[in-house]
Amino acid sequence: MNNILVINSSVRFENSNSRQLTQVLLEKFSTERHGVKHRDLVKQPVPHFDHSAFSGFGGDDSQASKKACELSDELIGEVKDSEIIIIGAPVYNFSIPTTLKAWIDYIARVGVTFNYTEQGPVGYLDNKKVYIVLARGGGSVEHIEMQLSQTLGMLGMKDITFIHAANLDTPEREEGLADVHAQIDAICH
Ligand SMILES: Cc1cc2nc3c(=O)[nH]c(=O)nc-3n(C[C@H](O)[C@H](O)[C@H](O)COP(=O)(O)O)c2cc1C
Repeated sequence: MNNILVINSSVRFENSNSRQLTQVLLEKFSTERHGVKHRDLVKQPVPHFDHSAFSGFGGDDSQASKKACELSDELIGEVKDSEIIIIGAPVYNFSIPTTLKAWIDYIARVGVTFNYTEQGPVGYLDNKKVYIVLARGGGSVEHIEMQLSQTLGMLGMKDITFIHAANLDTPEREEGLADVHAQIDAICH
């Protein structure tokens, strides 16, 4: 189980900072010993977590619910099969992209990827190293770090490193890039 899962969620393609940086990070890791799976949440969006998905996770077997469970199983399988997970997370309107939130909603399944115990929630997607490239214009991101740490942490993904990419759309781009490459070099030395 030496795979790397790369998840991208920027609505930009060629000029996306988070896409470029997840690729830089991937190239730091990618050796013959890793298989790489790309999950592009914009080219292939995960639907909103809706009534059919909710009912399906609870056991409903309507056609729509079964379809939601199949997709959920596929997404969970990709996480289970990976030891390294690289997530590109641009900041849109003080939040993560809705596509990334939908991905989280589809992998958070009680009884499948986590369970409630007397000691609190226990996640089953553990033993993973997660890198999250947070690309932003310049606003605050503490609440986003907390949201991602808590939701992924509940599923067992507690070993998370955030890479901060700020000011890359401004005249300070060169300084911003130098800073983010220094963060990546510090991780992958
Ligand atoms: C619709 C939209 C909303 C944005 N909202 C924010 C924001 O709330 N805070 C922030 O710091 N940057 C914001 N930005 C700037 C992006 O986070 C920045 O351009 C980042 O590089 C996006 O990642 P990407 O280049 O991978 O698409 C926004 C950009 C767009 C297009």
